Amino acid sequence: MVNSNTGKTRKRNIDTGKKVLVKTAKGRKLSSTNWLRRQLNDPFVKLAKQKGFRSRAAFKLLEIDEKFCMFNPGDVVVDLGSAPGSWAQIAVDKTNANKQSTKEKIGRVLGIDLKPVLPISGAEFYVWDFLSDDFLINIDNILSTPVDVIMSDMASNSTGHRKSDHLRIMALCEAAAFFSFDYLRPGGNFVAKVLAGGAERNLQTSLKNNFKKVVNFKPKSSRSDSSEKYVVALGFGKV
Ligand SMILES: C[S@@+](CC[C@H](N)C(=O)[O-])C[C@H]1O[C@@H](n2cnc3c(N)ncnc32)[C@H](O)[C@@H]1O
Repeated sequence: MVNSNTGKTRKRNIDTGKKVLVKTAKGRKLSSTNWLRRQLNDPFVKLAKQKGFRSRAAFKLLEIDEKFCMFNPGDVVVDLGSAPGSWAQIAVDKTNANKQSTKEKIGRVLGIDLKPVLPISGAEFYVWDFLSDDFLINIDNILSTPVDVIMSDMASNSTGHRKSDHLRIMALCEAAAFFSFDYLRPGGNFVAKVLAGGAERNLQTSLKNNFKKVVNFKPKSSRSDSSEKYVVALGFGKV
């Protein structure tokens, strides 16, 4: 809330529960001020910091895994749209990708993003546009076995135009789904972010034709004012 006398924005400090004044910096857009306010008041942002996750998105994947058992130790995971890396952190942990013991099954986590990701022990990151020819040409050089889990949290920058944003995310999601049809092992799992908005039907149909079970899921940690949800597809090849 902007104080009309001072021009400063009041925010609640999530550590103390008290409201704090945040100076509205010259030149800062209202949208940036609103983003800052939301971050400061978001319990998942605070929890992510406490637990050492790179973003609050970690909790969405934890919820998805708790409900649908996406990962097993030893799994090979492809993480599409991996920056800043919190989903990769979870996948490394669940698949033992950072372990070296000979007693446990050791997994592998490969992250792909337009942006570089700071290193995470047990994960490999590649700076590629998933939709580019570069990706298609190079992916076979780094993937020698079928994949157990393909996950996409890809999102293009918001245009602010709801319908356009919806169509852009759906295009990424559909491309991720087609990638999964070519690279998943029989029985493998797929999860991808979608935005509700009408263009999901074709995607649902092709997923249902290829997986044993397809479910839409909105994690509690996904902001309630966002139309974001996740499509979870289990058991590739209907084994
Ligand atoms: C919401 S963030 C992902 C957060 C990530 N799951 C995590 O837990 O840290 C969405 C990411 O998708 C990436 N992205 C969008 N379009 C992409 C594309 N065509 N190829 C690769 N990455 C893309 C963006 O660069 C951005 O980093």
